[in-house]
Amino acid sequence: MTARSPARVYRGTPRNLAFLARRLRAGELVAVPTETVYGLAANALDARACAKIFRAKGRPANDPLIVHIHALAQLGTLAEFGDAARRLAGKFWPGPLTLVLPKKSIVPAIVTAGLPSVAVRMPRHPLMRRLLRLCGRPLAAPSANPFGYVSPTTTEHVRAGLGKKIRFILEGGPTDIGLESTIVDVRDPRRPRLLRPGAITRAQIEAVLGQKLHSAPARAAARAPLPAPGLLARHYSPRTPLVLHKKLSPALAAKGNAAEAWLFFAQPPGPASRNIFWLDARGDARRAAHRLFGLLRTLDGRGFRKIHAELAPGHGLAEAINDRLRRAAGQGHA
Ligand code: TXA
Ligand code: MG
Repeated sequence: MTARSPARVYRGTPRNLAFLARRLRAGELVAVPTETVYGLAANALDARACAKIFRAKGRPANDPLIVHIHALAQLGTLAEFGDAARRLAGKFWPGPLTLVLPKKSIVPAIVTAGLPSVAVRMPRHPLMRRLLRLCGRPLAAPSANPFGYVSPTTTEHVRAGLGKKIRFILEGGPTDIGLESTIVDVRDPRRPRLLRPGAITRAQIEAVLGQKLHSAPARAAARAPLPAPGLLARHYSPRTPLVLHKKLSPALAAKGNAAEAWLFFAQPPGPASRNIFWLDARGDARRAAHRLFGLLRTLDGRGFRKIHAELAPGHGLAEAINDRLRRAAGQGHA
């Protein structure tokens, strides 16, 4: 098989997992399921393997990777950590929380884009955990999509975006959460910062830390120095222009242009129509998050001129959903 041949999807049998772990140890890339989104993994301690991630994704070298571990004992080899990190890890790992910490020298510079910090998380998807254990190495893995596009929540999405660039994809089913992990910078215990909202909410983190989270620093230009490079204003974007609304009117949508799609948060009253969609019938935030990226991809493939999308009401998971909607619309807060 050459690198240009289509990627193959492997079910998570013991034999396949052992095979994929060997491929990773040999410096190859494997697309892996996590509970958030699919990742494109390489041995995090192998700079040449990690360079392949940047090439396959078309990711700029100034955008660092998240390192995935399966045991807390691994954290101390990669990063310095104190009480705040210990408490957050104790409460939320394995799970969708990434901690930014001072890096140790074992982590290659390419992984952190030359930053003195490293982002680490312990995922909870059972197949990813088994693969990490079998592999015996921490795995660097950004989302398994071409740079700038919507993150993949199924192996079909991975195939659609990277199928010609990679050879190995581990099937783990549709991802549970559907949004990327929450990222918290805990390097300064007096000033913990929320760099990216996710399924572990701001309030949950503040409750464990016993203090308020600060916001991510603003980022003037796409190529500026990178305290929090994931916060590109335009990111996770479909190609179809997305227009955000605090509230969508079912009457307006019904009368609206058929070439434009209307994406409600909950099912609107009124008859079905080929350009009216909703994230979850009852407006449940968890289910809405789970469906968001898949639906954005579907709508992106339907040739609409524009997508009108309604922001999620409330706090908690709504903050993460709205963050992704804003970035998809090119209005990231950075
Ligand atoms: O849920 C997730 O986090 C998924 C799965 C695969 O684990 N991964 C993911 O990776 O979303 P990625 O690369 O698409 O987004 C990670 C973000 C990047 O945008 C990067 O800028 C930020 O984390 N990041 C990584 N290292 C960092 C660091 N040292 N300081 C600040 N931000 C960092
Ligand atoms: Mg990404």
